[in-house]
Amino acid sequence: MAEIRIRNTNERIQGEQNVKSFLEKQEVLYEHWDPAKLPAELQEKFVLSDEEKQQILTTFDAEIRDLAGRRGYRTWDIVALSDATPNLEELLKKFEQVHTHTEDEVRAITAGKGIFIIKGTDDVGYFDVELEAGDVISVPENKPHFFTLMENRKIVAVRLFIETEGWIAHPYEDPAFQKA
Ligand SMILES: [Fe+2]
Repeated sequence: MAEIRIRNTNERIQGEQNVKSFLEKQEVLYEHWDPAKLPAELQEKFVLSDEEKQQILTTFDAEIRDLAGRRGYRTWDIVALSDATPNLEELLKKFEQVHTHTEDEVRAITAGKGIFIIKGTDDVGYFDVELEAGDVISVPENKPHFFTLMENRKIVAVRLFIETEGWIAHPYEDPAFQKA
């Protein structure tokens, strides 16, 4: 289940209802899928063949189509990252910059962990959303954010798009943003 950390105060928000209502106020969609639907061997696999990626999409087909139907997504795929990913360090450096895009950024975590750092309302400031398998999040369009891995450095997620071109990252220079 996702957890929130507010960077300015180090306050943590836990528990599905608390997390959900905090994220709702921040206009961040948060839902949950049952990660146990995935065959056990795919719950701990981070280097995936095309067949295995398809198997994950098939497992969550009903959830994907439900979300897509409600929110207008037209394409989806699987992203898998781990220490086995070529150039992982470089990729992470690129990821770890605050940016915006003109489409929302949807991720449904199917294995591993990840973290979105999001610019909240002025009274909240930046906050972290720590995600694990089963967590589904959508960062709204034009909301400054970035994504990175957690200590375990591995994740598999479903990405959904309205138009893949709408997802080009625009850097967001923010002197108020402090790392850590
Ligand atoms: Fe993004």
